Amino acid sequence: MKPVTGVVLAAGLGKRMKSKRAKVLHELCGKPMISYVVEALKPVCDSIIAVVGHQADAVQDALRNEVHYAYQREQLGTAHALLQTKCLLQGFKGNVLVACGDTPFVTQGLFRELLGYHVSSGAAVTVATFHASDPTGYGRIIRDASGELKSIVEERDATDQEKGITEVNSGIYCFDCDSLFSALERTDRRNAQGEFYLTQAVEIMIRDGLPARCFVVNDPGIVEGINDRRQLAAAQKRMRLEILRKLMLSGVTVEDPETTYVDARATAGQDTVIRAGTRIEGASVIGEECDVGPDTCIIDSKLGNRCKVWYSVIEECILEDDVQVGPYSHLRPNSHLENSVYVGNFAEIKNTRVGEFTKVHHHCYLGDSIIGKKVNIGAGTVTVNYDGKRKHTTVIRDGAFVGCNANLIAPVTIGEGAYVAAGSTINKEVPEEALGIARSRQENKPGWAKKFLGRG
Ligand code: UD1
Ligand code: CA
Repeated sequence: MKPVTGVVLAAGLGKRMKSKRAKVLHELCGKPMISYVVEALKPVCDSIIAVVGHQADAVQDALRNEVHYAYQREQLGTAHALLQTKCLLQGFKGNVLVACGDTPFVTQGLFRELLGYHVSSGAAVTVATFHASDPTGYGRIIRDASGELKSIVEERDATDQEKGITEVNSGIYCFDCDSLFSALERTDRRNAQGEFYLTQAVEIMIRDGLPARCFVVNDPGIVEGINDRRQLAAAQKRMRLEILRKLMLSGVTVEDPETTYVDARATAGQDTVIRAGTRIEGASVIGEECDVGPDTCIIDSKLGNRCKVWYSVIEECILEDDVQVGPYSHLRPNSHLENSVYVGNFAEIKNTRVGEFTKVHHHCYLGDSIIGKKVNIGAGTVTVNYDGKRKHTTVIRDGAFVGCNANLIAPVTIGEGAYVAAGSTINKEVPEEALGIARSRQENKPGWAKKFLGRG
């Protein structure tokens, strides 16, 4: 078969989004909408070109070297956009699949079927069309008496009679490369929007006597475009439920799909339960048999198997197996909890490694620390890691016991098996197996209360 190049048109700003950000960069379930289009094209194409213009740099940052780029300096219309790929496609003898960057529900299957139909029917151009319940805003498909494609009329150029047509242009096409560029170069701006229309190029090809076909898409949902933020919200919900559906079919329990958010790139293993009000964002990986939520947020983190996390926030952390966190704890970036670590409520842990079987009880702050195995961190323990200028490291070795409400002024080390007495403010090393105690001695005054209250 002839080679195939995919072209994604993505130079427009998307005025109706009322955004400073290019429309195709708006995210659905944590992924820019253009990435969905590129991913659907990728398996069908030998190479892909994105036509960029508005915020070209940001679009290139999002897609990186997954695609080649053509630059459209001024947005003069869809034909003009496609014409910008001429240099890159010089001498290319194959088919060109054209899509827009704002239709994130397109599938690999659609592109494959469209291409297959185009090749087997020997067409020079095939337009993917669908029957819209509300055709407003779309180009209408005009067929001749024998049902062959004659032209595509944009809404703003259409007569009232043409506006009544419900078969519309999806904006997805397959072209023979040579015929395409010859037609693109002959488009003009004589239309209501003063733009170079790609739809005019189709009409020019038909006038040239080249075979043109329509490929009718049965499920209009997959070619649905996003133009404004209401459609973005509706698309977000649809994508979210689709992700949850796949998770559930793969063996994950989703307690309340209505309130659960899992990003497109996140994964969860078999028999994991995701409870109500939970978000799993970014490239998070949740292992098997975990119990996550309710009301938990996990961002770009990796959880092993059998972890339990409830009412907590975890960002950019690694949790090994059988770790428990919460309720109401916050694990901040670059924390690594080894197997069977227990973190209680209202704890904050940042940039800290915690060894296996260590227990971190309530109201603790551990920052910039290295904590060994089987350590007990008493309630209210604080690593005093910041002196106003720099951050310092606290090291607590295996088996140490830190009593409640200790302040550990970093840099400081608590030796293996050492004890820190409750209420101590420690600023010197506590050697292994020693007791570090740093608090003023208690004094008792016999009979003081009785006298104070005048009781006899
Ligand atoms: C276009 C079609 C219309 C079709 C509809 C489907 C034309 C003239 N009309 O209309 O028949 O029903 O898509 O959604 O083609 N773009 C550029 N550079 C430009 C202009 C547009 O890159 O100069 C890109 C946009 O970023 C967008 C895509 O092309 O991704 C479509 O442009 P848009 O203005 O949304 O076209 P529609 O008016 O929707
Ligand atoms: Ca438009």
